[in-house]
Amino acid sequence: MINNKKISITSNGMEIIKDYDLKDLNTFGVHARAKYFVTLEREEDLPELFNLSEFKNNQKLFLGGGSNILFTKDFDGIVILNKLKGIEVVSEDTESVFIKCMGGEIWDDLVQFTVERGLWGIENLALVPGTAGAAPMQNIGAYGVELKNTLEDIEAYDIESGEKKVFKNAECEFGYRDSIFKSKVKGKYFITAITIKLSKISKPNISYKILENYLKENNIEVKSSKDVSIAVSAIRRSKLPYNTKVLGNAGSFFKNVYVSRQKLAELLSTYPDLSFFEEGEKIKINSGWLVEKCGWKGKKVGNVGVHEKQALVLINYGGATGEEIINFANQIIDSVKEKFNLQIVPEVNII
Ligand code: EPU
Repeated sequence: MINNKKISITSNGMEIIKDYDLKDLNTFGVHARAKYFVTLEREEDLPELFNLSEFKNNQKLFLGGGSNILFTKDFDGIVILNKLKGIEVVSEDTESVFIKCMGGEIWDDLVQFTVERGLWGIENLALVPGTAGAAPMQNIGAYGVELKNTLEDIEAYDIESGEKKVFKNAECEFGYRDSIFKSKVKGKYFITAITIKLSKISKPNISYKILENYLKENNIEVKSSKDVSIAVSAIRRSKLPYNTKVLGNAGSFFKNVYVSRQKLAELLSTYPDLSFFEEGEKIKINSGWLVEKCGWKGKKVGNVGVHEKQALVLINYGGATGEEIINFANQIIDSVKEKFNLQIVPEVNII
């Protein structure tokens, strides 16, 4: 890469780099340049960061693992890479353990930290890509568990005032791949740490069909949270293109879609094999099934394609631009709309 001219070093030693290529910082592996780029390694550097003219006078984008983002153009502002590290047990009682994790930690490292200690709560979220700080943004979820089930609170900074604020779980307005950080306060806060509450008491959550079947087929008796994390990791490795250096992707590109009972009945009369599940009163259709039925699974157009084992996952086979990927995604959205009269929406943040 012929770029990355260093332009200035702050008094705290932070490097502000101009015209930075973000290719290695997004798992789709697309080229996009940031006007300014800075890596944040210490929370105490935040006041200085907030005061920099490059920060104050520009749009801001905080980046974690870059695993849920698609750059379709250059970013005309400052990108701040969250490298705040540290995982610690903050308190415990007879039943629970509270763990604080800094936002720049890799999510799966946190999962490993907890299963190594025999704690229950996030083992089903093993191998979800990305950082702990990004996890609450879209309330990460997999195999029947969501972050909101264990999240206690979030530490964040108001990027205008520089003030620190703690968001309790209930204030985060968590929904399916959704939170207040994607809606009401979008772009207003920088998440520095999360605290989760885990159980010392065995609480396996293995009723997600694919997980249940895997355990049965492999004769695995779940004795620890680590057993679950190992099973989940094996399923993910078999279905999802795990090494993004080989196949650029951002996990599920589309969200599953909620429908009314009436729409479900209509769909079922035409498609008795429809894949859906019920969450209390809510009905969620598997968008992967819809995309597959439209004939996209495994399809490749130019440098972009749909993964052959999971139709929600779009792949950059090398050299694709963000624009190419979004155009491809739009074709899929249109064909699902045409065939099923259903609107599927991206889960990935489009920049
Ligand atoms: N299905 C198909 N074809 C496909 C994919 C799925 O027909 O190509 C149907 C099948 O009936 C399958 C069902 O959908 O049994 C469920 O599939 P899967 O367990 O793979 O789950 P998903 O609903 O497609 C969601 C999450 C994943 C998460 C899995 C497992 C979303 C958008 N995606 O996918 O999350 O790992 O459940 O819990 O909710 C991610 O967010 O990046 C992600 C990978």
